Amino acid sequence: MTFRIAPSILSADFARLGEEVRNVIEAGADVIHFDVMDNHYVPNLTIGPLVCEAVRPHAKRVDGAKVPIDVHLMVKPVDRIVPDFAKAGADIISFHPEASEHIDRTLGLIHECGCKAGLVFNPATPLSYLDHVMDKLDLILIMSVNPGFGGQKFIPAALSKLREAKQRITQSGKPIWLEVDGGVKTDNIAEIARAGADTFVAGSAIFGGGNYVQKIATMRAELAKAGT
Ligand code: DX5
Ligand code: ZN
Repeated sequence: MTFRIAPSILSADFARLGEEVRNVIEAGADVIHFDVMDNHYVPNLTIGPLVCEAVRPHAKRVDGAKVPIDVHLMVKPVDRIVPDFAKAGADIISFHPEASEHIDRTLGLIHECGCKAGLVFNPATPLSYLDHVMDKLDLILIMSVNPGFGGQKFIPAALSKLREAKQRITQSGKPIWLEVDGGVKTDNIAEIARAGADTFVAGSAIFGGGNYVQKIATMRAELAKAGT
């Protein structure tokens, strides 16, 4: 099983964003998670395409290999802003089905723009939104907090939802990533992996002070224990 650690720059120092991105990649991050909030779909306001464009040159390894920028759109409407993020260097764009009038069209638009596409499920959003679009998905993101803020507590019901999403992915036979977002820490990441997640967003757990190398190494050691 390939596990990916995706630090959420929501909890990084915005005044030093490029440096934070480079440091967390050097510490072993696999993906950069980029939270976009609009003060409309969610009650907070964060960063947009201009910041994505500014971060893009920093999201690479020392050998020059590109590290994917995983844009999590918490915005409504969705479609207007998708091409802007694609032009700004996003690699993956995911959105909440409740925020799009035409989910299938939005997934198509993301692909037309050259990005991978994901659907995001809030704690109370049913997985039935997956029923007719599995063939168009590259990523499923299960929220384990209500979206809008970093530093919230993991909602345990996300574990059974991950298990169900994992089953659907296995049945589809497609290499769809199963990502989890919210309240992921070193002390629960192994249990979350056992429920089926392979990509782990962590904001406050990584950027909340201390040594990024050590934090990511501890997460990897816990994942190794997960025994999946
Ligand atoms: C919440 C965001 C998350 C957030 C996670 O709406 O989507 O990505 O940054 O933060 P932590 O890891 O602190 O719960
Ligand atoms: Zn997120």
